[in-house]
Amino acid sequence: MAKNIIIIGTQWGDEGKGKIVDWLTDKVAAVVRFQGGHNAGHTLVVGGKKTILRLIPSGILRDGVRCFIGSGVVVSPKALFEEIGELENAGVDVVSRLMIAPTCPLILPHHIALDQAREKAKGDKKIGTTGRGIGPAYEDKVARRAIRMMDIFQPELLKEKLKAVLDIYNVQLTGLYNCPAVDVDTVYQEIQTYAERLRPLVGDVSRTINDIHRSGKHILFEGAQGTLLDIDYGTYPFVTSSNCVSGAAAAGSGIAPQALDYVLGIVKAYTTRVGSGPFPTELNDETGALLAERGHEFGSVTGRARRCGWFDAVALKRSIQINGVTGMCITKLDVMDGLPEIKICTGYRINGEVVDMLPFGAHQVAQCEPVYETMSGWTESTVGVKRYEDLPENARRYLERLAEVTGAPVTMVSTGPDREETIVLEHPFD
Ligand code: GDP
Ligand code: IMO
Ligand code: MG
Repeated sequence: MAKNIIIIGTQWGDEGKGKIVDWLTDKVAAVVRFQGGHNAGHTLVVGGKKTILRLIPSGILRDGVRCFIGSGVVVSPKALFEEIGELENAGVDVVSRLMIAPTCPLILPHHIALDQAREKAKGDKKIGTTGRGIGPAYEDKVARRAIRMMDIFQPELLKEKLKAVLDIYNVQLTGLYNCPAVDVDTVYQEIQTYAERLRPLVGDVSRTINDIHRSGKHILFEGAQGTLLDIDYGTYPFVTSSNCVSGAAAAGSGIAPQALDYVLGIVKAYTTRVGSGPFPTELNDETGALLAERGHEFGSVTGRARRCGWFDAVALKRSIQINGVTGMCITKLDVMDGLPEIKICTGYRINGEVVDMLPFGAHQVAQCEPVYETMSGWTESTVGVKRYEDLPENARRYLERLAEVTGAPVTMVSTGPDREETIVLEHPFD
């Protein structure tokens, strides 16, 4: 059987997953998204041309690669068709290669209205969500009242379900948040405008990817967000509403865990976070501003500034353990070029004790004070370097130290946003 790989974010998202998925697609038959929704923003740069994908898997720019949206993904039909439209305008063939699971819960206007109303009401205490309706859509799934992709094709059932759901939403929107109610007929009509275009895209994703697997071809499972945003293991409640760890790949796409062979953990060479929540190694100084500027650290979905800080090995150790990371791909190494010294957080001081593993939950993490070790930086440029031996000595030392302090091997390094700006030490498909 061919090897299948899970690509996972090991920090707070935006590690460069999209770039690496795209880079690996020359070896695969299919790419599968298994959680999250259009809160994700995965950037691909091919021959200098930038494409940002939100819902469509990052295999779409490689001819012939099939793209699947598994059951664990929450799908906004509106966002989906906007993205398909953008890709088609750029000359990319999407619909003949895309399949969406019939069991995907939908994101509809009332989810977005509630997400945004709640955030506004929370003021300073807001989560800093992407405002895309992700949380409410997953709530409906767990509450067993979600409107799923397959319901679109049964108009009577759809209307009945929509009415029941909107009764609940409108009580909250009008009663708690002083927002206008969402009208059943308006949402129903909006769904109808997408129904015929969705019909050919919906299919048995689980069965199809199992068939591809049995035929001996490689499949990539593309994670969204990152482990520290995971609903169970992240800095709760400042997290997203899905499991974004490697374990979610099987359930979210409908394949057995035995089919998943390799976990490639995508690790930014420093740390970033968008939205609220604790961030022990955050730098509110010139170095933080420099990393933000050099790394173009602005959200690819919302355009919000990303907070920046030093590499956090304590958080990474948790992430590597939970995901079972086989190899790490260190991204954005080039952004650290020219820093005179570099710090790595190797412990947290919490209540007078030093711990080496990220505690659970925002309250505990907020009390952690980082313990750093310092290394010398490098003056040479690493931009676009493609061979490990061509990296400056201190950059190699930094990478070696990252492997030591986290306990996982560095198997790939990324030195620029372009597909080709990649160093391979050990190819995950070998
Ligand atoms: P994702 O959500 O994990 O796919 O990551 P994003 O696309 O949201 O953010 C990563 C950003 O860094 C994008 O703008 C990428 O084009 C860019 N990027 C990825 N890898 C590298 C790299 O090695 N060096 C630099 N300078 N930029 C990179
Ligand atoms: P990719 O796949 C970075 C963050 C939001 C917010 C929290 C909850 O591009 O790495 P949500 O809208 O999901 O309810 O917001 O999660 N968040 C991300 N941060 N990268 C992402 O995706 C994110 N998706 C959600 O900023 O803090
Ligand atoms: Mg992103």
